[in-house]
Amino acid sequence: MQTEGRSRHFIYTDWILTETQFDPDQLHSKETVFTIGNGYLGTKGSFEEGYPHALPATFINGVYDDVPVVYTELANCPDWLPLVVIVNGESPTETLRERFRLDQGEILRYDRQLDLRYGLLSRYLRWRSPSGKTIDIHFERFASLADQHVLAQRCHLTPVDFDGLIEVQGSINGYPENQGFNHWEGLDQGKTDQGIWLQRRTRHSRIELGMGATMRISGAEASLQVSTAPGYPTLSTTYLAKSQQTVTVEKIVTIFTSRETETPVSAAIEKLAHLPDYATLLKANQQAWDEIWQQSDILIEGDSTAAFAVRYNLFQLLIAGARHDDRVSIPAKTLSGFGYRGHIFWDTEIFMLPFFLFTQPAIARNLLSYRWHTLPGARRKATHYGYKGAMFAWESADTGDEVTPRWALGNDFYGEDVRIWCRDREIHINADIPYAAWNYWQTTGDDEWMQQRGAEIILDAAIFWGSRVEFNSERQKYEIRGVIGVDEYHEFVHNNAFTNRMAQWHLEKAIAVYDWLAQKFPERATELEQKLKLTPEERTHWQDIIAKILFLHDPSTELIEQFEGFFQLEDINLADYEGRDRSMQAILGIEKTNKYQVIKQPDILMLLYLMRESADFPYNEKALQTNWNYYAPRTDITYGSSLGPAVHAILASDLSRSAEAYEVFMQALMVDLEDNRGNTSDGIHGATAGGVWQAVIFGFGGIQLTENGPVANCHLPDGWTRLKFKLHWQGKWHDFDLHKGQVTSLRSEFKIQNSKFKINYPHK
Ligand code: BGC
Repeated sequence: MQTEGRSRHFIYTDWILTETQFDPDQLHSKETVFTIGNGYLGTKGSFEEGYPHALPATFINGVYDDVPVVYTELANCPDWLPLVVIVNGESPTETLRERFRLDQGEILRYDRQLDLRYGLLSRYLRWRSPSGKTIDIHFERFASLADQHVLAQRCHLTPVDFDGLIEVQGSINGYPENQGFNHWEGLDQGKTDQGIWLQRRTRHSRIELGMGATMRISGAEASLQVSTAPGYPTLSTTYLAKSQQTVTVEKIVTIFTSRETETPVSAAIEKLAHLPDYATLLKANQQAWDEIWQQSDILIEGDSTAAFAVRYNLFQLLIAGARHDDRVSIPAKTLSGFGYRGHIFWDTEIFMLPFFLFTQPAIARNLLSYRWHTLPGARRKATHYGYKGAMFAWESADTGDEVTPRWALGNDFYGEDVRIWCRDREIHINADIPYAAWNYWQTTGDDEWMQQRGAEIILDAAIFWGSRVEFNSERQKYEIRGVIGVDEYHEFVHNNAFTNRMAQWHLEKAIAVYDWLAQKFPERATELEQKLKLTPEERTHWQDIIAKILFLHDPSTELIEQFEGFFQLEDINLADYEGRDRSMQAILGIEKTNKYQVIKQPDILMLLYLMRESADFPYNEKALQTNWNYYAPRTDITYGSSLGPAVHAILASDLSRSAEAYEVFMQALMVDLEDNRGNTSDGIHGATAGGVWQAVIFGFGGIQLTENGPVANCHLPDGWTRLKFKLHWQGKWHDFDLHKGQVTSLRSEFKIQNSKFKINYPHK
């Protein structure tokens, strides 16, 4: 049975998002919302015919190029979308040529739909031209999941009340821009028997790109013309249209870069020559999506908006995760926007990765391998700052070198530039990445990857901590001073509990991995000892840090101080600011915010969440309750970071605060569909999408990972009658079909393999 939810902008059915009215004021946010992709590239939902101020964008993952101030960014690639329809007069001699465009004439019907099942974007239009000719136009497009180098468009054209000539032009626009900056130099272009091609190269990184395009027409007699305007090769066709008769135009595009092949243009032309028609390509794409959803779908009954929106968030992750490339990760704004310039943060490992880990482990492996490939950059960063080992970039791109901009420029002529300290101080990422690598290993049992790649990440990042901590002889404690914790409202703090505990946890695991390696793969252990200069003294040093690192924790109440001196800061009652529409930092300014007990996003609570599977400090029920009571009211959850709400949803759910859990969950869930932070135009909030998955599975599903595999202890929100999903654990699928009122549900084919388990958890 199909259910339907509605909002200001959309109708949500099980799999389909429908927009029934075009609002030019939301042009850019909707371009993001209607993004399609296939893990290789993402294309924003701009219109085929263009629109004034539109920002069409296609990002191929890994195609970075240099840019001032922010070092490097994903280069917007040549636009494959242009498909222009021109309604001519009744004879070739008549001069009236009316080009279909939404800002002229009259829109009599407008339905834009994204079908998540197959990544298919379509638009149904009835348009009356300024001279009064009415035509039905139905556009469709997809980026093939079956063959990542293939992009397809189709257009059905049906004149409603006229006979006459119609011209269709399909082009590749070789002049894409990143906010005014063109990364491409033209190399060549041309035509073949199949159509047109274009060759471009990024200016600095010198990545070559080859694209080919062909067009086919059915339902009318027409031939193809080729025009090779520089940088804008175009195929066009003109036919005599008859009222009420439908003609179909297909445009197929192929695309390669020198990241995959030495000869991208030949590869694009070659592929084009052997492609079947649109319908066959669509079928292959549908089959590929069917397989993906088999593993990754979540079915929710009883809440149609959530049912659709959860799938929407998963879809956005699925089209951003590379299937065939382990040298790329997922940028914070996925492949759907210019925000953060395509840079990669902890967002991937901590927020997005779990979804892949439990439903598409091969993609999770690729994402983590990206960090392995970037170890040389992380080592350069450590050396630069005077530390040892690997110091991962807060913002990372192709090489792993630090690409967080040093300065954010002032907003007006006289505004001060703002120093961004995250590159120097937000070092918790150095434990977050090992945390994810460890979890990948635990969940998949992939010893091969751990010995070849994971161990090197975990050990070299641990060596960094060994050189970063300071021993305070007065306190007889190790400290980590001068950091930014998860909460970026406080920019220079000592002994942030999150950083200290994550570093401690990481060192514990580093020792476990080191010992496991020595026992199971002694040759690899020796190899790494030599390469990383890993000594028995280092191991002893780690043990010492584990034993003596400082935590500001009151064992009688379980209250943890976020960092040294936090409780001495001026307190704040966020209720006094009710009705605001901005973050507390925007209201108070950076300096002043530093002085208050106001938090951008869960920090201590984030730590409790990440440690919930660990039997040790600080996770226990009392700690959760106490710290929730203290920190949740001081967290700028609605206007701080978009990473916060999903985490609060999980913990509120654990605390049986169901209404609150659902409320913050919906903030996360609808962040892009409803643009509730006003910045969807910058791109999809990837971390929020990953947080949504975790909130559904670990929050409402109450999944806990036991030694026998995942077990559910669900607390479904009001209205949800059913929650169904699959999890992959140690090589087996576990199906969960949870119903309201059910306390525990586990249907599992998992057989516990004790010996293996023990090896994988050596120190537990
Ligand atoms: C958040 C970070 C996050 C970054 C990218 C910031 O606003 O505070 O935690 O990594 O955005 O999403």
